[in-house]
Order: sequence, then C-alpha cells, then structure tokens
Amino acid sequence: MAGEDATRIAELFIWMAAGAALIWLAVIGVAVYATRVRTGAHNPRIARLLIIGAGAVLPVLVLGILLAYGLWLVPELRRPAPANAVKVEVVGEQWWWRVRYARPDGSTVELANEIRLPRGRAAEFRLLSADVIHSFWIPPLGGKVDMIPGRVTRMIVEPTRTGVFRGACAEYCGTSHALMNLAVVVMEEQAFRRWLEHQFADAPAPASETTRRGQALFLANGCGACHTVRGTAADGVVGPDLTHVGGRLTIGAGILPTEPAAFARWIGQTRRIKPAARMPAFHMLPPDELQAMGAWLESLQ
Ligand code: CUA
Repeated sequence: MAGEDATRIAELFIWMAAGAALIWLAVIGVAVYATRVRTGAHNPRIARLLIIGAGAVLPVLVLGILLAYGLWLVPELRRPAPANAVKVEVVGEQWWWRVRYARPDGSTVELANEIRLPRGRAAEFRLLSADVIHSFWIPPLGGKVDMIPGRVTRMIVEPTRTGVFRGACAEYCGTSHALMNLAVVVMEEQAFRRWLEHQFADAPAPASETTRRGQALFLANGCGACHTVRGTAADGVVGPDLTHVGGRLTIGAGILPTEPAAFARWIGQTRRIKPAARMPAFHMLPPDELQAMGAWLESLQ
C-alpha cells in the first residue's frame, strides 16, 4: 500500500474476510455436526442452542461489529481536504483521462492519462465524466469513486511513498473500457514542484529537421482541430492535450510506450490499438510522415 486510505481499506478487507471465514466455519461446523456427529435423535435443548447461538447470535454479532467498523471508517474516508492539498480535476472520457491542475493565477493547465502527486501531502480529486459513468481507481492509493455525468464527486488520497502506480477505470464504460489506464507517479515535493512548473510551460520548439517536419505535418493534417499543443496553432479541445506528451510514461492511456514508433503506430492504426476510439486513424499517411510526426510528438518533453 502506498496511501493512507488504501491501508485503511485493506485493513477493512482483512477484518471482513476474517469475519466471513468465522461465520463460514461456524455454519459448516454445525452442518457437519448435524449430519455426521449426531445422527441419532435430536436433543431439543442442544438444537435450540445451536439454532439461536450459531444461527442468529454469532452472525448478528460478527456482522454487527463489521458494520460498525465499516461505518466508523466512512467519515474518515470522506474527511475534508487539508488546506495545502494538491487539487487535481480528472474527467473520465471514452477511453482516456483528462487531467487538470490549477495554476497559481487560478487558470488550469491540462494533461492526460498521467497524474503526479507529492509524497506526504494530501491530494484532492474532483471527478467528472464527459460521457458515461466511469470509475476512478488507483488501488495502492485509495478507494474507487464513480465519475457520473452531470455530477461532481471527490476523493482524497495521501501518498505515503514514492513510486509509479497504476490506476484504472473500474466501471464498464464501453468497448475499450479495459484500455483506459492511468499512470500515477508519486514524487518528492521538490521534484513534484519542478515537474508541475514544467507542465505550465509551452511546448518546446522543434529542434531538428525531422521534428520540424513532424510539427508541420501535424498541423497540416488537421490534428490541431482536436488536440492542443500550447505554443503552436493547435488548440483543439476534443482529445488529449499533447503539450508535454513526450514526457509522459505511456501514450494511448497506458497502452503504448512513449516512443516515436509507438506514436506512428497509434496515428496510423488508432482503432486497431483501441477499438472504437473517437480518433480516426490516419492510415493514408506514408510511413515516413508518420515517423516524422512520431519524432516530433516524442520531442514534446
Ligand atoms: Cu471508463 Cu471503464
């Protein structure tokens, strides 16, 4: 476990499993007793004792204790965020995650499919959906919370150790539900601040002949109608913001490595990689053009 809430939920799970095992053992024990041990005539006194004791008192006691424990945890998991919490807005979309961080001036900067958090500081997620119900889940950090169209839900996590964790959508949301993953990187405070500062900046200018060509092709093919790359003419809002896409751990929401060849594959065969994805495949483009676009996107560190 890498978060306070995940630890509490894991403890709850262990106690519930233990309680369930206890009740199961009692029920099976009574069944064995009744069918194997005492096959003769019933002693009404013992029968009554078993029915009331093992059939009613024990389950009520065990389940009552577990219910009280679970309810006692609820306010703990729904506590208000501390004032210094990192605020992150995440929008579930078919089939990727739109991620927003607030700038100091109150405006927001958009990312996709990757969340970074500082260790030892709470993070508050504001969860929304752009289309259907998704469920936001980072198992090592906390519980899962539904993202419901037209409603805002929230979740707080407190990462306790650094590392890269995988998040997933935990509610079936259409064809490529299993292909919307999320990389969650927990960093030390200083590294996190540097990273966030870098995300606020515009995309770097292309530095080589290939990447210049890649950028020109990206703009000429109309990719900017759906994607934003801050610092260029591309300002679409339908798809993921690609300003620093080359600096992310994965592309396509956790399904391809961040490499020029993977970008080229993604652009040329989008729906083979992610069935029913909204983005049309640009398979009409020759391989060298796809490679150039891939090289440019990968250079957007
Ligand atoms: Cu989004 Cu399942």
